Amino acid sequence: MKPLTGNTLENTLPYENYVNPQIFEEEKKKIFQDSWILAGHTSQVEKPGDFFTFDIADQPLIISRDKNNELNAFYNICPHRGTKVEKNECGNKKVFTCTYHGWTFHMNGKLNRAPNFATNELGNHSCMPQVKLEVFQSMIFINLNPEARPMEETYGEFMANLERYTFLESLKKVRVNQRIIDANWKAVIDNYLECDHCKIAHPEFSKTFDMKNYHIDLHGNFSCQYSELTNKSNEQQEDHANFYWVWPNLMVSIYPGKEGNMTISQILPLAPDKSLAIYSYYFNSDEISKEQEELIRFVDQVRLEDFDLVELLQKGFHTNAFKHGVYSPTEYALKFFHNLYGEAMNVKEGML
Ligand code: FES
Ligand SMILES: [Fe+2]
Repeated sequence: MKPLTGNTLENTLPYENYVNPQIFEEEKKKIFQDSWILAGHTSQVEKPGDFFTFDIADQPLIISRDKNNELNAFYNICPHRGTKVEKNECGNKKVFTCTYHGWTFHMNGKLNRAPNFATNELGNHSCMPQVKLEVFQSMIFINLNPEARPMEETYGEFMANLERYTFLESLKKVRVNQRIIDANWKAVIDNYLECDHCKIAHPEFSKTFDMKNYHIDLHGNFSCQYSELTNKSNEQQEDHANFYWVWPNLMVSIYPGKEGNMTISQILPLAPDKSLAIYSYYFNSDEISKEQEELIRFVDQVRLEDFDLVELLQKGFHTNAFKHGVYSPTEYALKFFHNLYGEAMNVKEGML
């Protein structure tokens, strides 16, 4: 997609989409429960018995490694009467136990014992329901749609783009930070997809990167932002950092260099005006070097600057002042995101 040109004013996605509870409920079903969503990383489930829990749009899930070394994903819900089973965020277990009537489950979600039944033959009530899982570059993706097409079919171009980063497979998740943002999830993505605000809001970022040659490339369902460092050392000459956004809620920053690393941000919807941001940092060893600490500090700083902005933005969405905004010529990636959003929500052209 080309940047907008000339003086044509184009309206943004209506603000209604950032505040309306019915639209929010629809988004959960049509987008978050029907897309490949990053749930975690294989370094969180290295050994048999390892597991972690993760919620996608109100759906509680368990991701585990069973005794056959296979990865599984299933709803964290007891098939007896619907109790949430595992309360911990992560751990290592032989069985999961429902605290209501004591049913136990193997690490693959299958029923082990149902003390108040004479048999384990309980049809589709004899396991916690499985969900689709795929691993790509050690990242674990989940899709809650049982009919979902393989990731390769939806994200093949993005996956091919990352193939050149051979170091990704061996990275470990070494730090995770979370933050609740008082803004709609799309406001956070919108903010990520343009750098018009960078000079004003991110002074350090703008000094570090060449803002005159800042690129935002659009692909089928992802975008890639990059620029050269203003002061780069010899080893940084070769390959610049790439900041990917992948439909709908994933941001992956890849820093090649001598010891390549990656940072990931995910924005998960909690309410029309509340989102959970999860940031994870992946390095090649558990020990974080001084330079890596500095990178974490730098990235966190930029994010904090952004959160203040999106929370201010959300305040405007609720008012009677405007029904929508207008795109600047360099906000074309927002328009691209909003078009993908319209397709996923089955909004007819011209109705956005
Ligand atoms: S609800 Fe889980 S054992 Fe009864
Ligand atoms: Fe920003």
